[in-house]
Amino acid sequence: MARSAGEGAPRQRHGAAAHRRDPLAFLTAEFDEAHDVWRSASGRLCVAGPAAAREVLGNRRGTFVETSDFFHTRNGVFGPRSAQIDIGRAARALIRGHLDARRADLPRLVRERLAPVGNWPDAGNLLVHEHLREVLLCPDAPAELRETIDGIITRAVLAGARGRHSALSRLVFRRRAMGTLVREIEARRNTGVGVGVGESRDLLDVTVTGAGRSADPGEVAEVYLSFLFATVGSVGFALGWSVLLAGTHPDTWGEEPGWIVREALRLWPVAWLFTRTPGVEHDLAGVTAGPRDAVDVCLYLVHRHPRHWEHPEEFVPRRWAGAVPDPAFMPFGVGPHTCAGASVTMTLLEDLIRIITRDWRLSVTEGGDGPHLGPALAPPQFTAELVGRVAPERR
Ligand code: HEM
Repeated sequence: MARSAGEGAPRQRHGAAAHRRDPLAFLTAEFDEAHDVWRSASGRLCVAGPAAAREVLGNRRGTFVETSDFFHTRNGVFGPRSAQIDIGRAARALIRGHLDARRADLPRLVRERLAPVGNWPDAGNLLVHEHLREVLLCPDAPAELRETIDGIITRAVLAGARGRHSALSRLVFRRRAMGTLVREIEARRNTGVGVGVGESRDLLDVTVTGAGRSADPGEVAEVYLSFLFATVGSVGFALGWSVLLAGTHPDTWGEEPGWIVREALRLWPVAWLFTRTPGVEHDLAGVTAGPRDAVDVCLYLVHRHPRHWEHPEEFVPRRWAGAVPDPAFMPFGVGPHTCAGASVTMTLLEDLIRIITRDWRLSVTEGGDGPHLGPALAPPQFTAELVGRVAPERR
């Protein structure tokens, strides 16, 4: 993605973008701010413009091969589409019911898990896991499966987790973990407990029910793992970014929690990259895209597009005051595959940020590393100290 001479210097990074060693800084340097779609040196097509991003992800003209990152398994895309839709809806309903029933637990969780000091981003992932534990696995689930899920979180979900274990130990663990999950999926199918529309006790029941009896249990396990990554991983990272940015901008503490969360998701979209394949040759914002191309929609650039956003690099929650849905803001995707968990995610994040900024004084110290770049964009390491600002009985 070379920049040709005379196309202007890379933008200055400041404010909220000033995280040391931003692993995405190279993208900003490659984007010339004039071409919303361009062909990189490696031959891939890169998309940074909001309209082009919506065209690719929304796929209204049917010019891209239909896919869903969430339902992607090693055998291809899990399907049929009707099963994907059923699973997404049932999962959202289960999580919504749990959040409504357990909302009163959140102040205690913040007090016990985040105060007086927490090591982030892990603290956010572990808090989300604690709150959604029973949605992920019902209390009746076998102890071995419970330990397996805990192991997957430590070895694969937490930021930089993969680097904390050797490739061999990860491979051995993965084989064992998939074996345990597949056995549980088969057992649930055989007994029928929790399997049936409206009977789901947890997200594994949701996946087994929606997938139907003929689905390959290995693929069902992979879809279930997508839920683990989306909940404990993505929601935890989004919480981490919101806490980090609120903590480094104390002047924003009185702002609406929803603005803080949205602004954090704008600057640091946890789902930062989507890859799509054109089904037919067509024109994409002045560039010819064909079936042999890989098209990368880079949400990080879309969310900082200088023609669309004022002060794009700065953390300004107030920009969301009275805002209607913004066409250049798509942290949960666009079109038919828009995130099924978007509304429940926002509810949980807003509730947590409201409690943290209302009841506590937040003080954040950043560690030396930068954000962690993987399939998800995770915050850098930081510590957050929480000191009560209201009487203990009120928090
Ligand atoms: C911060 C948290 C989250 C983010 C940033 C996020 C982001 C996304 C994005 C960008 C997509 C679209 C992927 C594509 O177009 O290929 C997606 C799809 C999906 N997400 Fe999320 N997600 C989050 C949390 C959740 C949660 C908590 C759930 C649980 C219900 C969930 C369930 C799904 C499902 C089922 C899909 C597939 C939708 C479809 O293809 O029909 N996500 N998510």
